[in-house]
Amino acid sequence: MAGNAKPHERGEWGSRFGFVLAAAGSAIGLGNIWRFPYVTGQNGGAAFLILYLLCVLLLGVPVMVAELTIGRYSRRNPVGAFATIRPGSYWTLVGYLGVLTGVCILSYYTVMAGYSIGYIVKTLINNQTSFESFTANTWLSIPLFLAFMVLTVLVVQGGIKDGIERWAKILMPILLLLLVVLIIRSITLPGAGKGLTFYFKPDFSKVTGKTILAALGQAFFSLSLGMGAMITYGSYLSKRDNIVTSGCYVAFFDTLIAVMAGLLIFPALFAMGLDPSEGPGLVFKVLPKIFASIPGGNVVGAGFFLLLSIAALTSTISLLEVATAFLVDEKHWLRRRAVWIVALVGLCLGLPSVLSQGAVSWLSNLPLPGGDFLGFMDWLFANIMLAVGAFLISVFFAWIWRLNAAAAEILEGYPGFQRFSVVFDILLKFFCPAVILVLLFFLFKGVL
Ligand code: PHE
Repeated sequence: MAGNAKPHERGEWGSRFGFVLAAAGSAIGLGNIWRFPYVTGQNGGAAFLILYLLCVLLLGVPVMVAELTIGRYSRRNPVGAFATIRPGSYWTLVGYLGVLTGVCILSYYTVMAGYSIGYIVKTLINNQTSFESFTANTWLSIPLFLAFMVLTVLVVQGGIKDGIERWAKILMPILLLLLVVLIIRSITLPGAGKGLTFYFKPDFSKVTGKTILAALGQAFFSLSLGMGAMITYGSYLSKRDNIVTSGCYVAFFDTLIAVMAGLLIFPALFAMGLDPSEGPGLVFKVLPKIFASIPGGNVVGAGFFLLLSIAALTSTISLLEVATAFLVDEKHWLRRRAVWIVALVGLCLGLPSVLSQGAVSWLSNLPLPGGDFLGFMDWLFANIMLAVGAFLISVFFAWIWRLNAAAAEILEGYPGFQRFSVVFDILLKFFCPAVILVLLFFLFKGVL
């Protein structure tokens, strides 16, 4: 629809299935397949998994429903959405914060996604270069970064139904299928049982405040919450759609893929006698070793990195879409122009991140949280800004807009919501803001 729509006419999802796939595509990404396993590994395995599931259920789902409702009610991008509900208030700043956070996450996320495409070929041809020398080589990392950004632009340029939805429908089922095949390979390796124990048998003696904070941050990042991505995707939902069940489906698929990624990585890791707390390099450093040790491993490995690239693409699409929707709705830009300009800004912002992975030494060793420029961007935008955003969105939804008004929007398409509205209200009014405030307090205390 949007592909041949007038410049500022809004697109709409072709079907509810298309929406769920596209929104799940946004949620499912490097966050699930790269970040979730390494954070789980660093935080002791099964106990972290349980905390993570609780965070998704008690914080993620309510904030997800809040974002989708704000989006569908206003039929606007995050900036326009707050301006529609509370015209002339400072709340529009929350929308601008989301647009900014989206572009900044896009800038470094695309760097990591570029590595992933590079590793498809690297694994396939059995190239033995280390992860460090690969990322330090600007002749590889910059073109890959550029290529991934252009790929994202080409999809988003197509608009809502013809671009994002069509691609999500093709890409998401391939992703699931590839994961299942690789998991079967991983759990049939000799010695895989120890990995399953680590992943499913909780040891709560290892849980500390830090574990809870890690689970919370991971939940927001993984569900694409706190920057208006779900406000934007919700704005293309039809009034007939059930916001609550749609949001629950998205959270379910996102969590399913994260749990599956763990099921792929931990059995294989333990089968190889490797360390689960390897850190951010886990996927790129350790997995190629595992692939190299199994017959036909280069093909299996290439399949894995293809899967990672697909997952990353459906996420970069949504990161780019937020700022694009803002320029199309508010500034009446043509979609094509908006997409290319935002991507250009993302490329400029991402350049220090590409160079910070070994190519330029001062960018690679910064006296800041995260250690290097890319790590710092991830810390600042994924950890802090998303939490700030989710806090402000839940406060806005529950205290400013108020449930009475918002519920009317949710009830359209879901009359049964009446039964849960009290629980939902309590979670968004008190529980979410309080927990996030505590998270931010500890985050700053740990750094300062
Ligand atoms: N949820 C995505 C992932 O897990 C990342 C993302 C964050 C995308 C915020 C959009 C908005 O990889």
